[in-house]
Amino acid sequence: MKRLTFAALATGLLAASAFAQDGKTLFEQRCAACHITHQPQSRQERMELKAPPAAGVMWHMKQEFTSKEKAVDFIVAYAKHPDAKKALCPSIRRFGVMPDGMAAGLSDEELKAIAEYWYDNFPPATYKHPKGMGKGMMGGGMGMNR
Ligand code: HEC
Repeated sequence: MKRLTFAALATGLLAASAFAQDGKTLFEQRCAACHITHQPQSRQERMELKAPPAAGVMWHMKQEFTSKEKAVDFIVAYAKHPDAKKALCPSIRRFGVMPDGMAAGLSDEELKAIAEYWYDNFPPATYKHPKGMGKGMMGGGMGMNR
């Protein structure tokens, strides 16, 4: 009996650490096509954005939430059910609400690993949130964030 419990526990721990490593990979596979992990380097790249970059989204999350746990919970819930009424990123006015189904096939644990990776790595220390981002299509000052 004891042995079984230990085995179950060990498996659980292994799975947890595998998820932690996978956060980055899963983010890159499932989210980074839209939430790019660098800042746009040219006007063209800015024009072609499909969604707010990873740094900008997390900047808003960290303005809003006082703990990592709350931010992670919000991200997991939002990925499962995007909702314009819940959105914290004003750039939703430019991009429209995130499409449904981005979390399809991902477990809650995997989504959590994604959100934790995102929270832990964004925005980078050098990041300055662009002024005017989301205020209309062109967002004045969007190029000043390097
Ligand atoms: C097809 C493009 C696309 C993909 C892929 C995508 N997103 Fe998004 N996401 C968007 C757009 C567009 C917005 C901005 C509008 C909004 O806030 O709904 C957004 C916004 C968000 C926000 C901010 C919501 C807010 O408060 O405004 C979160 C959190 C988020 N996405 C999580 C994810 C996660 C997690 C993944 C990967 C599992 C993902 N997204 C993949 C398009 C995408």
